[in-house]
Amino acid sequence: MIRRAFANAQRRFTTAATAAAQTQNAKTQEQLTHFGYKTVREEDKEQLVGSVFRNVASKYDVMNDFMSGGVHRLWKDHLIQTLNPGPNVKLLDVAGGTGDIAFRFLDYCKKVYGANNTASVTVVDINPAMLEVGKERSKRFGFADSGKIFFQEGNAENLVNIEDASVDAYTIAFGIRNCTHVDRVVSEAYRVLKPGGRFTVLEFGQVENPLVKGIYDLYSFQVIPRIGQIVAGDAESYQYLVESIRKFPPQPKFAAMIKNAGFTLVGQGWEDLTFGVAAIHTGFKV
Ligand SMILES: C[S@@+](CC[C@H](N)C(=O)[O-])C[C@H]1O[C@@H](n2cnc3c(N)ncnc32)[C@H](O)[C@@H]1O
Repeated sequence: MIRRAFANAQRRFTTAATAAAQTQNAKTQEQLTHFGYKTVREEDKEQLVGSVFRNVASKYDVMNDFMSGGVHRLWKDHLIQTLNPGPNVKLLDVAGGTGDIAFRFLDYCKKVYGANNTASVTVVDINPAMLEVGKERSKRFGFADSGKIFFQEGNAENLVNIEDASVDAYTIAFGIRNCTHVDRVVSEAYRVLKPGGRFTVLEFGQVENPLVKGIYDLYSFQVIPRIGQIVAGDAESYQYLVESIRKFPPQPKFAAMIKNAGFTLVGQGWEDLTFGVAAIHTGFKV
C-alpha cells in the first residue's frame, strides 16, 4: 500500500518535472531565431540586422548591381508592372531602404498618368542610415519637394504610425526575410491595407532546378562575400545575406503564411523570377 502510494507520488513528480522541462524548453526555443546560419536570441536579431544595413548603406545600391549583374533592376521593374498601380494609389513601401521601389513607382505613375497624377508613396524602414541614402536620392531624382514621397523610420512588425485600412497597396522588397517575426509583418500588412488592397512581396526564393541551384550556391557562397569585401569592405554582411536567403521559407510555405494571415491568393500566389532565385508573392485583402 505504502509502496503503491510512493510509486504514484513519484510518477506524478516525474510527469510534473517533465512538463516543466518541456515548458522551459519551449520558452527557450521561442526566444531563439536565426541570423543567417547562426542561432541568436530573438531580441538580438534586430540589432544584428541593423548593423548589417548600417555598414552597407552607402554602398548598398552599387553592391546590388555588382552582385546581381543588374538583374535586381529587372525584378524591381517587374514588381511595379505586376502592381500596375492606378493614378491615385497610396503605396506603403516597407523595408524600403534607399527607395528603389518607391522611385520606380513614382516614375511609372508619371509615365503612365502624366505629371498631375496623385499617387504617393511612404517609405518605411527601421534603419536611419538606409533612409538617409533614400532621402539623398530623392533630392537627386527631383522628388524631394514633390509631396509624393515620404520617409518614415519604423518597424515592419509594428507599424505604429500607419493607421488601419489606410493604404491601397503595400510592397516589401528583399526586406521581409530580415525581420524577426515574419508572421507579424504579414499581419501588419493586412491591418494597414484597405479592403481590396494589394500586398506584394519581392523576396529571394528557393531554386528547385538542381543544375541552376548548384551554380547559384557556388556563386552565392564563393563569390558574393568576396565582392562584398572588395566593393563594400565587408564580406561578413554579404555572408549573412546569402545565408539569410537559405533560411527564408520556400515559396509554397511563404504563400501559405500569406493566406493564413487572411489574404486571398490568385492561383498559387507567387511568380518565380530567374528560376526562383527571386519570387513575387501577391495577396489581396478582400
Ligand atoms: C535588402 S534591403 C531592401 C531595401 C529595398 N527594399 C530594396 O529593395 O532595395 C532590406 C531593408 O530592410 C530593412 N529592415 C530590416 N528589418 C526591418 C524591419 N523590422 N522593419 C523595417 N525595415 C527593416 C533594412 O533596414 C533594409 O533597409
